[in-house]
Amino acid sequence: MTTSDPVQLMKQEVGKAAAAKVKSDTVVGLGTGSTTAFAIQYIGDRLAAGEIKNIVGIPTSFQAEVLAKKYGIPLTTLDAVDHIDIAIDGADEVDPNKNLIKGGGAAHTREKVVDALAEQFIVVVDEGKMVEKLGSTFLLPVEVIPMAVAPVMRSLEKLGGKPELRMGIRKAGPVVTDQGNLVIDVKFASIDNPAELEKTINNLPGVLENGLFVGVADVILVGKVIDGQVVIEEF
Ligand code: A5P
Repeated sequence: MTTSDPVQLMKQEVGKAAAAKVKSDTVVGLGTGSTTAFAIQYIGDRLAAGEIKNIVGIPTSFQAEVLAKKYGIPLTTLDAVDHIDIAIDGADEVDPNKNLIKGGGAAHTREKVVDALAEQFIVVVDEGKMVEKLGSTFLLPVEVIPMAVAPVMRSLEKLGGKPELRMGIRKAGPVVTDQGNLVIDVKFASIDNPAELEKTINNLPGVLENGLFVGVADVILVGKVIDGQVVIEEF
């Protein structure tokens, strides 16, 4: 892809940098979103060029599955393998402790399963995703089974949040996840203790998973534009 849009360039280069970390003979968790899409493309390119071989991917979403097939990455399932060597995934917010908010693509439930299992979980973001405190720029996604939406919304309000049901774009009605559930996006004035909030929300009956990823990420790759050039920082 050729683009002059700086955000797209950052996503592209950070995706490439993550793909460069994939080694032969490994099981690779394939994340979801526009940044990881570049990583999947470059993993496929490296496989096709013979730079790496014997890779199998575990997709975190229907999107990742479609992209892996498009770029020639063989797929497997968690029934067939007992470990994941490396996972590459995007994020909506990253704090200085490598904690994340994910779920902008409504895929956070499967993402958390795959990313948490990986021996090394690499997050790929552009610099716009870096925040001092989680929840400052992005609502917290919560996947909920459909019959529990109303009580979960009331419970989230009691926790101090402002919940809204995520609605589809170019699709009438709510967003339906790959698992057939709905997503509530919640605005919290301040997320002071992400680890505690992650557990509290997941404990509400009817909640499948929320988008707080605390203590899961190992490496953050950040694409930045400095003096008109994209550079990748790693922490
Ligand atoms: C999918 O549900 C999300 O967790 C994505 O990984 C996240 O929204 C990042 O996506 P982009 O790379 O498209 O910003």
